[in-house]
Amino acid sequence: MESRIPLFIANWKMNKLAKDVQAFVIPFNEATQDVSAKSERVLAPTSVYLSALVVATKGTSIHVSAQNCGTAKSGAFTGEVSAAMLKDLGVGWVILGHSERRHIFKEDNNLVNARLKAAIEEGLTPVFCVGEKLEERKANQTFIVIENQLLGLKAHSEAVLKDLVVAYEPVWAIGTGENATPTQAQEVHAFIRQWISKNISSTFANRTRILYGGSVKPENSSQLMAMEDVDGLLVGGASLDPLSFGEIVKKGLNS
Ligand code: PGA
Repeated sequence: MESRIPLFIANWKMNKLAKDVQAFVIPFNEATQDVSAKSERVLAPTSVYLSALVVATKGTSIHVSAQNCGTAKSGAFTGEVSAAMLKDLGVGWVILGHSERRHIFKEDNNLVNARLKAAIEEGLTPVFCVGEKLEERKANQTFIVIENQLLGLKAHSEAVLKDLVVAYEPVWAIGTGENATPTQAQEVHAFIRQWISKNISSTFANRTRILYGGSVKPENSSQLMAMEDVDGLLVGGASLDPLSFGEIVKKGLNS
């Protein structure tokens, strides 16, 4: 556990305008300054504001993440942003396979895996999202769904996957106000770590951070972070306000 530095990622989705992006950094950085050495903080704006956020976070230890990346370096892919472009901007991280990409935009495992390949080839740190839908949970298929989503990781060596982060985000908990209970989260996180241990290596599994996401708020961050295999949080709605996200970080570290 010691080697897994607690990681907190704000996924702003399709929210905020340029002025809001700028206005977030100073109060959030101030609110979390005293815990900055014992945690990693990452902000993920939409792609149009990545540059602005790279500039705004200069001189802080806050990292910047994209919310997706293209499968190719460049070419005829209207609407896509390549991993090479993200790297060129100074962006080091990318969220992949978020449930909104999988379910609203119909990204299947093959496409998510191709995006993963592109991201790791450019040396970006991938935040690889997995999670089951409510009907899948009710049908006792949670582990089957998660395992299918994880399969693409097997194509890469641990040297290439390097700082891979896995995020468990049950679809029924995203934006619903109903978070997974700490016990439910722990059960799936332990399954993911075991899968990584079996299919990649136990040392890699021990150092890979597994985040929980889905209706995280200041009121539940410490209970979730108290779980052995919950190494951080991926936060949507409650990350839009700098002080609320700051509380999530601080309470999460006090678990
Ligand atoms: P939420 O979203 O915190 O608003 O539930 C989490 C996510 O989608 O990453």
